[in-house]
Amino acid sequence: MEKLLTDLGPVCAVIGAQWGDEGKGKVIDILAGHFDVIARACGGANAGHTIVVNAKKHVFHLLPAGSLHEGKSVVLGSGMVIHLPTLLEEIQTLEDAGIAIVDRLLISPAAHIVFAFHKQIDAAMELRLTKQQGKGIGTTKRGIGPAYMDKAARRGWRMEVLRLREADWRAGLQGHMADVAQSYDVTVNVDAEVEDLRRAQTKLKGCLMVSAPDMLRIFLDERKKILIEGAQATLLDIDHGTYPYVTSSSTTAAGALQGLGLPPKTLTSCIGVAKAYCTRVGEGDFLTEASGKTAERLRERGGEYGATTGRPRRCGWLSIPDLKHAATINGFDCWNITKLDVLDEERAIPVGVGMEKGKVIYEELPGWESSTSALTAFEDLPEQAKKYIRFIEEQTGIPVRLIGTGQGREEMIVRQNS
Ligand code: GDP
Ligand code: IMO
Ligand code: MG
Repeated sequence: MEKLLTDLGPVCAVIGAQWGDEGKGKVIDILAGHFDVIARACGGANAGHTIVVNAKKHVFHLLPAGSLHEGKSVVLGSGMVIHLPTLLEEIQTLEDAGIAIVDRLLISPAAHIVFAFHKQIDAAMELRLTKQQGKGIGTTKRGIGPAYMDKAARRGWRMEVLRLREADWRAGLQGHMADVAQSYDVTVNVDAEVEDLRRAQTKLKGCLMVSAPDMLRIFLDERKKILIEGAQATLLDIDHGTYPYVTSSSTTAAGALQGLGLPPKTLTSCIGVAKAYCTRVGEGDFLTEASGKTAERLRERGGEYGATTGRPRRCGWLSIPDLKHAATINGFDCWNITKLDVLDEERAIPVGVGMEKGKVIYEELPGWESSTSALTAFEDLPEQAKKYIRFIEEQTGIPVRLIGTGQGREEMIVRQNS
């Protein structure tokens, strides 16, 4: 681990390379102990980051998965959209487990608020699209798109409104907020929204920073190490993803730096996280998608059900062109290939390596048909599993430094060099 940490340097971003749920939370949890500050930059409670510690499962939506490490500063950056009741619930869950968080939680006043009516608009928009074209985007219905719509239209409410008083909230919620909602046949429940704001104000007022970029600057000046927890993933990025079947934020390394207000040149490393196969929730192209029994087998072995919505994830094979695309955009220094153990029973593993006349060209690699579960040393992997990892390295030109072999915190191979 020491060599890896030295190579990563003081500011490291962990970014998903596929369509999300690659296992970002797990590697963040493993690395967090070695950093001082854990920061989420963009997105909201559409994220679901699962970690398993001592056989106990924890799912994070807004707080970074690194929050379990007591004493670390936790930052929610300006690029985020925050649903207040969800955040309070997550804080409560940690407090119930005896983990204090509020005293070390720093929230950007420029992060936007997701209101209950945003969630209703999200559902209404999905319904409209389904009626018009037979299917929606397949969103998480967490109000993400509508909150970012308000942000882009420069009428959204930011966390800084927690410094205001109830009368100000009421006026705004009854005014243009209500007009926007009405255009989607959604009624704003002003009393309920005000109650959410009041509860958040009581709990979180002390967490609001004066300025998130200034705070991060101070951390850097103090030589603190910053770990950036990416949310969603590159193929869901609003600019570089499979538009329009994407989320509404910038999910890349550059997007994370923008969301935090960290100067790009301060980033010292970026880890690309990719499953050893591939999954997607929601609609949109998935060229290497498997079907029938194969897809079911991957889903069951991988436990591929959404951490946020419980939806079954679509399952399929690794796509090298997609990994290269993600690496091009993010400049990955190394890979964390996760869930290698899920492939343990496969006889042969197809990998998408290119396209010809609109069809995926597969290269089929032999499976290892033996257990890699919980292995922590690369040398102990079956020969064919080593070959699979080396194939990814050769094809992408990027070393695989971390390999996931199970859900648990300990179940990770860390390689000094590839
Ligand atoms: P995230 O959104 O990228 O943080 O990923 P999710 O938490 O949504 O989904 C990843 C799932 O895979 C979680 O249930 C993890 O516990 C699990 N997981 C992560 N790494 C591994 C691994 O190496 N092997 C296995 N079997 N499960 C893993
Ligand atoms: P983590 O951080 C997987 C997908 C949704 C949908 C599309 C748009 O856990 O990897 P949205 O609610 O954002 O408007 O939905 O994006 N999506 C995710 N899929 N993991 C995520 O986050 C996701 N966040 C959004 O399923 O297809
Ligand atoms: Mg997830």
